[in-house]
Amino acid sequence: MALVNIQVPDIGDFDEVGVIELLVKVGDTVKAEQSLITVESDKASMEIPSSHAGVVKELKVQLGDKVKQGSVIAVLEATGEAAASDEKPAPAPAAQAPAAIETQAPAAPAAPAAPAAGGGAVEVRVPDIGDFKDVAVIELLVQPGDAVKVEQSLFTVESDKASMEIPSPAAGVLKELKVKIGDKINVGDLVAVLEGAAAAPAAAPAQGSTPAAASAPAAAAPVAAQASAPAPAAATATAPVPAHQPSTPTPGLPHASPSVRKFARELGVPLAEVKGTGIKGRITQEDVAAFTRQVMSGALQTQAQGSKAPAAGGSGVGLDLLPWPKVDFAKFGPVERKELSRIKKISGANLSRNWVMIPHVTNNDEADITELEAFRVSTNKENEKSGVKVTMLAFVIKAVVAALKKFPEFNASLDGDALVYKQYFHIGFAADTPNGLVVPVLKDADKKGILQISAEMAELAKKARDGKLGAADMQGGSMSISSLGGIGGTHFTPIINAPEVAILGLSKSQMKPVWDGQQFVPRLTLPLSLSYDHRVIDGASAARFNAYLGQVLADYRRILL
Ligand code: COA
Repeated sequence: MALVNIQVPDIGDFDEVGVIELLVKVGDTVKAEQSLITVESDKASMEIPSSHAGVVKELKVQLGDKVKQGSVIAVLEATGEAAASDEKPAPAPAAQAPAAIETQAPAAPAAPAAPAAGGGAVEVRVPDIGDFKDVAVIELLVQPGDAVKVEQSLFTVESDKASMEIPSPAAGVLKELKVKIGDKINVGDLVAVLEGAAAAPAAAPAQGSTPAAASAPAAAAPVAAQASAPAPAAATATAPVPAHQPSTPTPGLPHASPSVRKFARELGVPLAEVKGTGIKGRITQEDVAAFTRQVMSGALQTQAQGSKAPAAGGSGVGLDLLPWPKVDFAKFGPVERKELSRIKKISGANLSRNWVMIPHVTNNDEADITELEAFRVSTNKENEKSGVKVTMLAFVIKAVVAALKKFPEFNASLDGDALVYKQYFHIGFAADTPNGLVVPVLKDADKKGILQISAEMAELAKKARDGKLGAADMQGGSMSISSLGGIGGTHFTPIINAPEVAILGLSKSQMKPVWDGQQFVPRLTLPLSLSYDHRVIDGASAARFNAYLGQVLADYRRILL
């Protein structure tokens, strides 16, 4: 086996650069072109690749060492062709470029291209990025509506050799990002439009506030920005208030080499959340691996999983969504602006969270309630004097209790990795009020008869309409029912009332021709829409629950079985 010295190749302007990361250790098998170490100057960082494949016998550098072209980094026991043909230490291939150049900010000041008084639109174009051709956009670091600073990175591109961040030549509000992940870009491509921009002064020093932002390598020339004639909208725009403040901090660009970034991307690790333990807080491959282990073991949640306290008024879910469109509706006709009711604000926030956090599926079915409706009508006649009116909803509540007893996972809530099975049967029902939707909870429905349920429901519905429901009236539900039967519709998708795991939607019952084996007969059918949390409930269970509910409603005696 041949021993090969791996040397630092021609790394351009880099002279006496510090080793800040060791990417391999003795005993590792490396491929040709695999990065061995990361070096960093005051301008940029780059990875030094191995010129051969083989096994690392010795590492000749340590963290903090200074290296330059020709310095020996490692001794490899070469495999493959090199081993067979080359007994001498191979010189570093002169033409070999460094594996990766990581830029955190442009070296030179941003091109003085924005309109002088900071008011117009500025086109951001890809600067001269050296050998980079047709490089893919791999990461978007800002989104439309974000306020960006001069030299703040807008997105990252990556070739097979290096990754690089493209900075903004001016400060302003990002009006449009013309690239998306996967796009291939080249020098001069229009990539973004900034509004209300103030360009970097022509002679601004390229100093950043962090070491990472100090400057960029020769490869990263300043972004070419061209002022376009302000569009009418831009011309009339007043202060450039960002339409959206990103909920996550503007990426301060986690300090990590391209290979670590690639590794993190492959694992889906959000680098911004990883604490770097390398030199100057640099994120190492081991940091990414440790972060992954922590998340997998449940010791850590990523922001996207909702562990962090929600930003004021935010969902806490961390979805990377586009900002809400800002429209001046008055431009299109007369409008009136009314504040949302308190209930609408609260229920809206809850509905949004439940909709995005629970994987909903809705199972639609129908129940034959012909006999039950006849019974309901006769019951109401008999009880006319009592003042209690029985609606189909009371029967459905009792039927749901029977189904919950048969399928206990519907009467449950997720608590971390555990499912809490409830042994009580409290049924919530959505009530429409002038101020919005509320869900009072009818307690201990299993212990009450239809008449009592009807009376309590009427009482709770009145309290709801009068705005007198207390918090206790709306807590402790097993499962909820949303009945639109009195209004109309055929089927719909009710949103689960977290932390419950299912909700039943009722639509308007209708007479339908049903085949009884010999002929079509008119039957009163009630549409049942059962939304369930697919993390807890399988589709088959939901279909069984709904079918059972239909059977009970079709023949109420089944409840006794
Ligand atoms: N099919 C046909 N008719 C139905 C029906 C159904 N599934 N359910 C109720 N009805 C009828 C009732 O029999 C009643 O008829 P009547 O006036 O001839 O006696 C009429 O519709 C009105 O019933 P309602 O007073 O609404 O009683 P209810 O017990 O069905 O519902 C509430 C009570 C409080 C749930 C209901 O008033 C309500 O607020 N529903 C809206 C819920 C909602 O907004 N959900 C949407 C959430 S996204």
